[in-house]
Amino acid sequence: MTILAIETSCDETSVAVIQNQKVLSNIVSSQISLHKKYGGVVPELAARAHSENIDYVLSLAIKEAKIKLEVIDYVAYTSTPGLISCLHVGKVVAQTIVSYLKKPLVPCNHLFGHIYASLIENQWQFPVLGLLVSGGHTQLLYLPTEHLQFQILGQTLDDAVGECFDKVARMLGLSYPGGPEIDQLAKKGQDTYSLPLPKNDQTLDFSFSGLKSAAAKVIAQEGKKLNIANFSCSLEKTIVKILIIKLELAIKQYHPKTVVLAGGVSANSGLRNNFFALKEKYPKINFIAPSLEYCTDNAAMIGMLASYQIKEKKED
Ligand code: KG4
Ligand code: ZN
Repeated sequence: MTILAIETSCDETSVAVIQNQKVLSNIVSSQISLHKKYGGVVPELAARAHSENIDYVLSLAIKEAKIKLEVIDYVAYTSTPGLISCLHVGKVVAQTIVSYLKKPLVPCNHLFGHIYASLIENQWQFPVLGLLVSGGHTQLLYLPTEHLQFQILGQTLDDAVGECFDKVARMLGLSYPGGPEIDQLAKKGQDTYSLPLPKNDQTLDFSFSGLKSAAAKVIAQEGKKLNIANFSCSLEKTIVKILIIKLELAIKQYHPKTVVLAGGVSANSGLRNNFFALKEKYPKINFIAPSLEYCTDNAAMIGMLASYQIKEKKED
């Protein structure tokens, strides 16, 4: 089964070819340089860039996969959530290809795609618990016995983790996206600033807007005295700590066999280290996270999710 997958939900234009659940190509054209000067994604510019780049990204994905368009059995695309004008570009391209090939269209959920990215290089055993951390979402997800049967156990009540990284980075004068910059600075610093652990309670929900305000206060108070590397280290440590606390709460309540870390923030080195360190504490659980190329937005994860959607439909 060969799937052509298209991802255009935010600021990455990506096309992948997946054959029998193996990634043959996964081309990602990032628009970061376009949005950098505005300090965040400008939807109108993002949609225009998707329309300008998609045919090149598409032809590169087909070329790298060494396939002919005619062998494609399904065309998958990200249908939700995302910036509507950006999603629209991917949808129209996918619809055009299927009307030419006369093959089925497979709409996919971007967030579920992030979780399914972990199946590109690993296998699951149910129950599966997922911690999804991205620029727009922070969720604990649970799949008790079968594919695609997602339950949301908890989520952020306000800002997402990636949003917190990006907004605090902006206050520090770092460039967009701030998460990777803070990750690099944190490695050079020490945890010397005291920041509150947000929503440190027995629920599985998160909250990051208070941490953002607390960070703004310290930044204003310290002014030029602020040691940015140390501050980045303290911010990252606080975020990682609360994510791991909530993940462990869910592990104790739901007893998963597999725990997945996914979404753009799963590229964070401090988070990955602390996540994989849980293996020692819970030796019976398989802790998996996609490799870095599949953490941030990409079409391979959409293709992988689509492959399971198609399989489940056939078995109905
Ligand atoms: O999943 P993603 O690529 O796009 C969304 O679906 O939102 O996630 C993007 C987010 C951004 O907020 C970015 O700052 C964050 O992921 N991010 C990181 C790192 N790499 C990307 N955050 C912390 N550390 C990183 N290394
Ligand atoms: Zn994403």
